[in-house]
Amino acid sequence: MTPTILVVADPLVPEAVRARLREAVREAAPGAPLILPETDAEALERAPDAEIAAGWSLPEGFTERAPRLRWIHAFTAGVDHFVGMPGVRDGRVVLTRTVGAHTAVPEHVMALVLAFSRRLHIAIRNQIAHRWDRPSGVGGEVRGQVMGILGLGQIGRALAELAAGAGMRVIGTRRTPAPVAHVERIFPPDRLDEVLREADYVVVLLPVTPATRGLLGERELRSMKPSAVLINVARGVIVQEAALVRALREGWIAGAGLDVFQQEPLPPGHPLYALDRVIVTPHVSGITPRFFDRVAAAFCDNLRRYAAGAPLQHIVDVSRGY
Ligand code: GLV
Repeated sequence: MTPTILVVADPLVPEAVRARLREAVREAAPGAPLILPETDAEALERAPDAEIAAGWSLPEGFTERAPRLRWIHAFTAGVDHFVGMPGVRDGRVVLTRTVGAHTAVPEHVMALVLAFSRRLHIAIRNQIAHRWDRPSGVGGEVRGQVMGILGLGQIGRALAELAAGAGMRVIGTRRTPAPVAHVERIFPPDRLDEVLREADYVVVLLPVTPATRGLLGERELRSMKPSAVLINVARGVIVQEAALVRALREGWIAGAGLDVFQQEPLPPGHPLYALDRVIVTPHVSGITPRFFDRVAAAFCDNLRRYAAGAPLQHIVDVSRGY
């Protein structure tokens, strides 16, 4: 029996990429019925047929309606939105995630670092107001500054390389503090404060686990330098947002570059939009046209393994959460 495959594509996926994805899936699993629902309602309606499901997310209630489901492949690096789903949580359904496709994330972080360093967040606001203000435009230099990377997984390690290439000194936290190229000092998670105290740029690249949810609150934000900038490209729930808004309003820290939020879309009227020391991007740090191709290739590689009965790659340890 060929497995029925259901793929929920993000509306951001261009049609040309969807066509390539369809083709790649057909090649990797010849003859397997492929469902490409356009809406959540359609995904839920077709759930009972699916043995394999893939996507950025699946609608709530999907796994409950999918008794044949054996495997979910997340197009994301973070899988916090999948691990709690019934079926995944109890091990009935294998969950795999996408590794190696998010090469734009370190570039996005560096863009934010350089934007804050060169005060582009202020320049753009001045430009919109037709204001020529040289004092507010005088920036700094990143060479010699310290980047503290919280979470030195694959993306964090690629970021360390870029930051070191720009002349920055890199420190960070990691659960297993083995040496990492381009990182001067690595601290275990319980020595987070040392990184927060020293870094000019604190970059959050952690998965969501019970230990990291709400990890950065008032105490942690106050232990950062008043000149430091927080960058979060992981998940909004790792930072306590109300404390962050206070930190920015009251100057405990100098700025924040945020791609992720507790509530997405970030609702209109949210204070983070209006604070001039904040750069908001709409959860796109990894996304480029080439990213979608890499995601499709990674899924199809696993699909071929599945079809051949071989072990899947990048299986999530659901008890750990990543
Ligand atoms: C996106 O947020 C991802 O985790 O890949």
